[in-house]
Amino acid sequence: MRITLPFDNGVGAELVGLDVASGLAADDYAFVREALDAHSVVVLRNQEVEPRAQRAFAAGIGTLRPLVYGRYSLPGYPEVMMVSNIKKDGQDIGISDAGSLWHSDGAYLREPDMYSLLYGVQIPHRGDEPLGDTLFASVCAAYDGLDQETRQRLAGLVGLNSFVWHLEKKARQGTLRRAPLTPEQKANTPDVEHPVVRRHPHTGRACLYVSEAHTCGIVGMPQAQAEELLQRLWTHIASPQFIYRHRWAKGDLVIWDNCAVQHLASFDYGDIPRLMHRTGTFGPRPQIC
Ligand SMILES: [Fe+2]
Repeated sequence: MRITLPFDNGVGAELVGLDVASGLAADDYAFVREALDAHSVVVLRNQEVEPRAQRAFAAGIGTLRPLVYGRYSLPGYPEVMMVSNIKKDGQDIGISDAGSLWHSDGAYLREPDMYSLLYGVQIPHRGDEPLGDTLFASVCAAYDGLDQETRQRLAGLVGLNSFVWHLEKKARQGTLRRAPLTPEQKANTPDVEHPVVRRHPHTGRACLYVSEAHTCGIVGMPQAQAEELLQRLWTHIASPQFIYRHRWAKGDLVIWDNCAVQHLASFDYGDIPRLMHRTGTFGPRPQIC
């Protein structure tokens, strides 16, 4: 029997009764999608998820997206990215600096990611305590929590989202641990405009769609004014009442909706080995709310 167990503060839910290794049926995927629409983040615990099964799971709830950073893909699986601090021959085997700023996956693309799936292969610990939590903030709840005056001020605004600016910001903060973009990669990721408030494609809810990782300005607004407004919104989004903090265990499969939540990684594990497998799905072009 499948059961949905919502978490306490209204963000996220655990799904019980699904066994990814045994394969899922069409109505299981529908159940997962419905849970994502209702709770934005879902957690399946104690799973054995081979890369092939993770790819199938992503294809079951959406359309698989190939990686932007191909060099970090799992050999033989171009849609499965390794997120890891583990080194082989002096090189990171996976991306090691992902998520150091609040963000929504793919927000720098014209058509951002819809769902992301992250599977815990190797979880670092200090004693019994798991490290490397992932935090999720509901940007639907954050929008609902704005005062009326701010909502009116945001109506119709368009944000400028930039992958190049994102990497420059990480470099300034000293958290960048990957090679700089080549001119070709820069040319392939031009800045994109997205509504500051976007309508969720399934639920119709209004979602804040500006992030400290990717949103570098607001179209038509003087930069100083835009930065003040963006900073205020970023601080608001990161308020404790909108957040679910996931403490990882090996075998967790966590799936989230990139329109409804932003996420943030914690880097409290240093060189203690950590390995996660990530896949993502295509999403629609954001629509103004
Ligand atoms: Fe991410």
